[in-house]
Amino acid sequence: MRSHMCGEINEQHLDQQIELCGWCHRRRDHGGVIFVDLRDRDGLVQVVFDPDQAEAFRLAETVRSEFVLRVVGKVRMRPAGTENAGLPTGAIEVFATEIEILNKAETPPFPVENDSEVNEETRLRYRYIDLRRPVMQQRMRLRRDVTRFLRNFLDDSGFYEIETPFLTKATPEGARDYLVPSRTHENSFFALPQSPQLYKQLLMISGMDRYYQVVRCFRDEDLRADRQPEFTQLDIETSFQDENQIMGLMERMIRELFANILHVKLPDPFPRMNYAEAMRRFASDKPDLRIPLELVDIADLLADVEFKVFAGPANDPDGRIAALRVPGGCELSRKEIDELTNFVAIYGAKGLAYIKVNDLDAGLTGLQSPILKFIPEPAITAILARTGAHTGDLLFFGADKSSVVNESLGALRIKLGHDRGLVHEGWQPLWVTDFPMFERDEKNNRWSALHHPFTAPNCSQEELVAAPGKALSRAYDMVLNGTEIGGGSIRIHRTDMQSAVFELLGISGEEAQQKFGFLLNALKYGCPPHGGLAFGLDRLVMLMAGAASIRDVMAFPKTQSAACPLVDAPAPVTDAQLRELGIRLRKPPVAETAS
Ligand code: AMO
Ligand code: AMP
Repeated sequence: MRSHMCGEINEQHLDQQIELCGWCHRRRDHGGVIFVDLRDRDGLVQVVFDPDQAEAFRLAETVRSEFVLRVVGKVRMRPAGTENAGLPTGAIEVFATEIEILNKAETPPFPVENDSEVNEETRLRYRYIDLRRPVMQQRMRLRRDVTRFLRNFLDDSGFYEIETPFLTKATPEGARDYLVPSRTHENSFFALPQSPQLYKQLLMISGMDRYYQVVRCFRDEDLRADRQPEFTQLDIETSFQDENQIMGLMERMIRELFANILHVKLPDPFPRMNYAEAMRRFASDKPDLRIPLELVDIADLLADVEFKVFAGPANDPDGRIAALRVPGGCELSRKEIDELTNFVAIYGAKGLAYIKVNDLDAGLTGLQSPILKFIPEPAITAILARTGAHTGDLLFFGADKSSVVNESLGALRIKLGHDRGLVHEGWQPLWVTDFPMFERDEKNNRWSALHHPFTAPNCSQEELVAAPGKALSRAYDMVLNGTEIGGGSIRIHRTDMQSAVFELLGISGEEAQQKFGFLLNALKYGCPPHGGLAFGLDRLVMLMAGAASIRDVMAFPKTQSAACPLVDAPAPVTDAQLRELGIRLRKPPVAETAS
């Protein structure tokens, strides 16, 4: 039907007779001449209809936005002064001799323009129109390019792509499972995988040596801009490699990806930072190193003060007092500081103490702060010295349980970085390593795994059991510009160690057998040392595309409430289907209750 794509036409095609297919992006009538911007996946080209071509002109007059057209014409230069430098095809136009209307279209619910302002519900309901927007077509192409590059890299590095089941058993990755009832096994359910973690470990035990998969994962969790209920991982596992080899290979892959696709040179090697340092300096396990603000610990300077806000956390082993220096922050108004206080309250902070350093050389009189009267002068002097405060700076303080200080000041650091235009240009990759094995789940009074329960500790089993809270793991996360794009670890490959970890997590021997007996068993039959990693492909593409949400790089994402307005899912099912599955609803559908 066509000889070329719209976006590829240029001066090289001058005087050629070509055939194009696409959508009418826009039709303009100008002094007896009709212009149609014809759009396909590759771009836009201007087609001109002249009354001399009477039949084509008559048909062109009936064309509306989003009609599907086939056009035959000749490429010619645009008249001088009418070129469009902003368009790759902007130097030429196609003089139409023939037009065929392949299909009509109703007026679309929103214009197919990059900047059309439409709410997301409508965009998703008419996703097939939304995806026609050039920016979305570019993002889908980028996603194709990224996936193809990664697949080629791994194929060339000796990895096998192997598919693993979707109808399976729970894989704990910290979210709720999506369950699928079984018709053939009464009262039993499959769980959709939160990740292929256990299958890829079984593949290592199977001797597959190097595995990868571009794979959908399913997690029923609270959604955010960078989280979807179903998302895609590039999942990877290798045998007989230690963490340095795995990290080395993975960062080479990402470096080559960025060099090839974005023509960006990432550092070689990627910097590494251990978890403790990341938390201390940036209050985050995925620090955005583009933001030059850092936290400074000051609890030791405040152990003896009477001010309760500080004295409590200063003397609490789980407490933290940190200062965040904002260069030039004196200019923040009272109102702005109040707004920031409300902002940190979202993260549980009970207040946001501050000191404005109006004049560093003027001693206490040069400072302005609601807490000066509560803190002895030597402590203040020491705080100013340790934070490196200059005249004009503002210091914010967080004092509470470490978790509250980290969440609130960590978020404040990022917000201030963006609000005050401090974010450096460019790409800042980082490995975060040496995570704790466990974190305390205070609510349930037990340990929970910081990664997943199959992550190997970097100590002996005896040391692990003796001090679980101190043990570090052989896990590593790859962070890019403050987003965790991938995470992995060396795995436990011995039954006794795996059982010990289950036990520490409060999973009884019986429960471990019932849930993970197949793994404990498999570990007994010659399991090689192994490890791997999974990238969040959507997140990676989101960053590379400069998009604000992973929804923008997924063809058919779900809404914030985990629904798909396009096909209207999830949806009720018939009584017959439920009966066949042996399921009775606790709350019958409204219509039924009424009858
Ligand atoms: P993890 O749970 O860290 O590790 O997931 C790996 C990567 O997947 C991405 N990701 C998500 N992306 C979009 N929406 C979500 N809801 C979502 N959840 C996670 C993140 C994350 O870094 N089996 C382990 C990996 C391993 O140990 O090899 C796992 O799944 O970018
Ligand atoms: P208050 O004595 O509660 O009025 O607090 C005095 C100052 O300390 C105010 O500026 C509060 O915002 C701040 N503040 C209170 N609680 C905390 C906290 N947990 N961390 C940091 N600052 C706090």
